Amino acid sequence: PRAGQLLTLLIDYEAGEGPGVCWLSPEQTAGKQKPYMYTQGQAVLNRSFFPCFDTPSVKFTYSATVKVPEGFTAVMSATSWEKQKDNTFVFKMSQPIPSYLIALVVGDIVSADVGPRSRVWAEPCLIEAAKKEYDGVIEEFLVVGEKLFGPYVWGRYDILFMPPSFPFGGMENPCLTFVTPCLLAGDRSLVDVIIHEISHSWFGNLVTNATWGEFWLNEGFTMYAQRRISTEVYGLPYTCLEAATGRALLRQHMDATGEDHPLNKLRVVIEPGFCLFLGINPDDTYNETPYEKGYCFVSYLAHLVGNQRKFDAFLQAYVNRFKFQSITADDTLGFFLEYFPELKEKGVDSIPGFEFDRWLNTPGWPPYLPDLSPGQQLMRPADELAELWAADGLNMEAIEAVDITGWRTYQLVYFLDQVLQKSPLPEGNVKRLSKMYPKISKAQNAELRLRWCQIVLENNLEAEYSKVKDFLHSQGKQKYTLPLYRAMWGGSEATRALAMEIFSATAPQLHINVQNYVKKILGLGGAE
Ligand code: BES
Ligand code: ZN
Repeated sequence: PRAGQLLTLLIDYEAGEGPGVCWLSPEQTAGKQKPYMYTQGQAVLNRSFFPCFDTPSVKFTYSATVKVPEGFTAVMSATSWEKQKDNTFVFKMSQPIPSYLIALVVGDIVSADVGPRSRVWAEPCLIEAAKKEYDGVIEEFLVVGEKLFGPYVWGRYDILFMPPSFPFGGMENPCLTFVTPCLLAGDRSLVDVIIHEISHSWFGNLVTNATWGEFWLNEGFTMYAQRRISTEVYGLPYTCLEAATGRALLRQHMDATGEDHPLNKLRVVIEPGFCLFLGINPDDTYNETPYEKGYCFVSYLAHLVGNQRKFDAFLQAYVNRFKFQSITADDTLGFFLEYFPELKEKGVDSIPGFEFDRWLNTPGWPPYLPDLSPGQQLMRPADELAELWAADGLNMEAIEAVDITGWRTYQLVYFLDQVLQKSPLPEGNVKRLSKMYPKISKAQNAELRLRWCQIVLENNLEAEYSKVKDFLHSQGKQKYTLPLYRAMWGGSEATRALAMEIFSATAPQLHINVQNYVKKILGLGGAE
């Protein structure tokens, strides 16, 4: 054909073993009755699912016809779908999206309405819990998001509860967010993950990073948007407390890698410098920096503007300017200076120590941190209690005077992070703590379980090692799994043996990426 002429290309292909396509046996599902398949595209896995330009810089619409066996249902990240005869499902995504946002699940799944444009999907044994967790709460987040950032363009916002081995808390597949079943805490306490994925509807899914080296444009703006929605719905103190937990994760990450690590800048070099064929897998660069340092940079931009309403209006104009496009940080910052000419005039992009260029290209702790002091009313009691538990010779009277029964999950999480930071505690303290607060040491909430397991390992509380084992057997989220293997491998001979024992039993259940990262931690010759 000549240039400009339309060409239709028919490709006959077969998708085999992963890494983008995950085939689960019945035992790997919640119901344990039927097999399950799901795809996870981000960052560059969808090239093993279908032929595509697998880069976030290219956007396209798609349609798909999926025929599945009797007794199974197919769902996709699509604007519309229709069930036809012969168990065939037809999907159509009518907005242009990048390849990594195409997603498919086939399984024994059912749905229940939880709002005017939202339903939850889950295996039958989880559907009741899923409906209860989110009935009537999703719409408010969408409405607040629309008020802040402009129209929600994707039509529906549905949530699919994945099998326990799903490696992420949430994945923002358009129209249909995928989430870990760990979110079914029974008390809506982990709903910040949903608010985060909803926020991607504007930041990430509408305005997309053009390269994975600028992933912070997706995640940093989304963290900011998430906390804006959270502030509107739950207030500033709670949101600051949640943000403080995020800051603690960034601190842990930078302590572990060293602040100067090249991944600790917002713009990461992913292109191979020396060899054309040995690229870096963007998934291997995943860490807290794009999230929490990115959040700090967006907060810094808001601080420069000095007025929340004006900054919100900027965000809305930004989404409107770049919707359905893929952009770089230069586009973002250029638009910021164009939108606020008085700031451009003042040269805010080159204030010594806070240069935009330094934010992007210099590793290290953020030069500006947003003020989280409105969270102090929730954090102070937790700080004080952690202090008491870290003392030599416990002051039980003072400890018993603190009533934690009314504390929210994130307040407990914050308390446990403080305890962890002070660990190992003096001999016997953690054992006492465990007895005193069964609400923590016997918690079913995944965020609490993670922290408790970290404390158990850091303090060599052998009597409770089985909790680490149970937790790692029960789910396979990357952000829970890797820190625990790192702690076990960095600990005693006993915890190293524990790590090997747990891994050999659970490896087949883990997502292939997570499997490889664990192998690397355990020196088993996994990913680089
Ligand atoms: N898009 C990410 C998940 C992701 C990132 C998948 C990189 C593959 C590669 C998602 O929006 C996310 O950030 N999830 C977080 C939620 C949290 C920050 C509230 C998670 O899974 O922990
Ligand atoms: Zn995200």
